Amino acid sequence: MPRKNMKKILVTGATGQIGSELTIELRNRYGKDNVIAAGHKRKPGGKLLDSGPFEHIDVTEKENIAKIVKKYDIDTIYHLAAVLSAVGEENPQLAWRVNMDGLYNILEVAREHGLAKVFWPSSIAVFGLKAPRVNTPQDAVLIPRTVYGVTKVAGELLCNYYYSRFGLDVRSVRYPGVISSETPPGGGTTDYAVEMFYEAIKKKHYVCFVKEDTVLPMMYMPDCMKAAIDLMEADALKINHHTSYNVTAMSFSAGELTAEIKKYIPDFKCEYKPDFRQRIADSWPMSIDDSVARKEWGWRPSYDLASMTKDMIEKLSKRFAESKL
Ligand code: SER
Repeated sequence: MPRKNMKKILVTGATGQIGSELTIELRNRYGKDNVIAAGHKRKPGGKLLDSGPFEHIDVTEKENIAKIVKKYDIDTIYHLAAVLSAVGEENPQLAWRVNMDGLYNILEVAREHGLAKVFWPSSIAVFGLKAPRVNTPQDAVLIPRTVYGVTKVAGELLCNYYYSRFGLDVRSVRYPGVISSETPPGGGTTDYAVEMFYEAIKKKHYVCFVKEDTVLPMMYMPDCMKAAIDLMEADALKINHHTSYNVTAMSFSAGELTAEIKKYIPDFKCEYKPDFRQRIADSWPMSIDDSVARKEWGWRPSYDLASMTKDMIEKLSKRFAESKL
């Protein structure tokens, strides 16, 4: 196959919540040896190691990234390595270093080596109290409350700059909370929506760190991967936004999620004890207007609260049952 038709993909943050599943999905689509997983702190799981190449990369070290890009002749990067919102508030300096230096290094390596495309996830965390919280539009005032949000706003602007100044094809979506069964998220504000499932199945009891009536936009992992891949596969002529696209799949309160889980585990009890993450959740949108993504590149999620809950319960129950054997 001629080089120009071949994709050689690097996934940073491949041991994380999104990376651990997206890497496998990309390997299924483009061939296992064409997708290089890279991780830093978390130990890679068996599936990631057995299904293709794995490399250690600290994204704050540019030469680290350049070495791997050259070694595998990479032309596309999914740059997922990041510090999330709650950990970011505990260590803003670390969040800045990993999120900003990391993205800058990726963009510079991509520019210097003439890479074809970069995917980088932004977040609903770019919004703050000056943006409408219901049906938050694509173009709203971006004054976030968290350092994580600050790095996402600055990152969006930097991606757009690399596109207009250097012609680098960077594409991005603003993810809502992501719910998944394979790898737990690490240090975000929307983590309660994942933890609730694990604890409901394991202990029938969960202490939730946001209030019962806290509503946030969310998305199930299959749709999260679909958003990234559909956007990266879309015809360049359709992509008119190189900051980041609003995308969403559902919105629900913590109480509504509890009620949905109770349909499968009737004696599940959830207590609500809000901590510092409540203040973060209160500054984020409750629902998102993603009509621009729908119109420009055909974004369509598949899962709602009911179908996501059913699938999560099935997958986690099966996994826990097997691990007890
Ligand atoms: N899920 C992320 C967080 O809670 C938001 O992008 O930090």
